[in-house]
Amino acid sequence: MTKGAMLYEGKAKQVFETDHPNEVIVRFKDDATAFNAQKKGSVDLKGEMNNAITTLIFDYLNHKGIPTHFIKKLDEREQLVKKVHIIPLEMVVRNYSAGSMAQRLGVEEGIKSPVTIFDICYKRDDLGDPLINDHHAVFLGAATYDELDEMYELSSDINDILIELFDQMNIILVDFKIELGKDSHGKIILADEISPDTCRLWDKDTMKKLDKDRFRRDLGEVTEAYVEIYERLKKVLNK
Ligand code: C5P
Repeated sequence: MTKGAMLYEGKAKQVFETDHPNEVIVRFKDDATAFNAQKKGSVDLKGEMNNAITTLIFDYLNHKGIPTHFIKKLDEREQLVKKVHIIPLEMVVRNYSAGSMAQRLGVEEGIKSPVTIFDICYKRDDLGDPLINDHHAVFLGAATYDELDEMYELSSDINDILIELFDQMNIILVDFKIELGKDSHGKIILADEISPDTCRLWDKDTMKKLDKDRFRRDLGEVTEAYVEIYERLKKVLNK
């Protein structure tokens, strides 16, 4: 398997073609952005940690029956994945109030929700990834109602599995974002990454934030938080 031309470069990752038409290589960068790239920086070891953490989580989800794009980790920064057409919607799942939802609703962070909250955002950097509803998504041609049903179900199943996994790590899964794509057969599968960049993870005892909010809010000890998540994950998964 050889690495070919770069197909795409995002804020935190690059995607390269391979000699296999349905497989691509994802490379994780140390670059960090927040607030629609208004805040920019770099976090030591972030690329390696997010590659390693996403590898462990996607492998775990695959074994639990969740279809994902993940094939294998190649090295410290790269993984081989199935090529997908990314559905231009970010699926956000929330178990506690935090971040943009806490702001929008004028509530404090950390309130446990009696129901799982799902938000969908339209992936458009120039618009700041706006919060939309199902009808907007259908209007935009991003997904059909049936596909949205499937996407919510997959997101809910992933949430159930991850709440339990992080619980074993003594961590509260506050919220997270996933991206879904269609593989070469048109099947909807989990793509992108699941890492401290895309989740809010709070230590159960101290409520210390162990995620990208440390970068967003200049809380310090950013690398340490990513390493801590990796170490706890390895321990509960016996890796
Ligand atoms: O900012 P907000 O509160 O809407 O974020 C909800 C969750 O989605 C957080 O875990 C955040 O890290 C993640 N997210 C993301 N990428 C975005 C927006 C949010 O990973 N572009």
